[in-house]
Amino acid sequence: MANNLTFTMIKPDAVEAGNIGAITKMIEEAGFTIRAMKLTRLSKERAGQFYAVHKERPFYNDLCNYMSSGAIVPMILVKENAVEDFRKLIGATNPKEAAEGTIRKLFAKSIEANAIHGSDSDENAVIEGSFFFSETEKF
Ligand code: CMP
Repeated sequence: MANNLTFTMIKPDAVEAGNIGAITKMIEEAGFTIRAMKLTRLSKERAGQFYAVHKERPFYNDLCNYMSSGAIVPMILVKENAVEDFRKLIGATNPKEAAEGTIRKLFAKSIEANAIHGSDSDENAVIEGSFFFSETEKF
């Protein structure tokens, strides 16, 4: 199944702005199937675990505060070449650098509050999906 699955989450800024529907519509119209999805929230501690890879970065503490500041919508998505195609759909981390028509260009507020996450590898897609969903929640 490698290469056909990715993990995403709509971040607190985009949920707060009422953009869950617009973003999931773009995701489905781009050919992704939603295999798991929920509206939930991260504690600061759980946000720290999810972003542990960024622990030494200067923005880590702010990122954990931000990611635990409101509701999020994690999802597991299926499509051929999912990781790469999804990163094209969301655009660059910094919305100022994101291509026209990408989710971050349309909805992100800043480099931190950048609307949506996308896994950077097949391996991380599986790890990140399992962080939020049990086997029985993946359809
Ligand atoms: P994402 O790529 O989903 O996962 C890491 C997150 O850290 C990234 O989105 C941004 O939300 C945040 N991030 C990355 N670089 C910076 C930065 N230079 N300043 C603040 N936040 C950042």
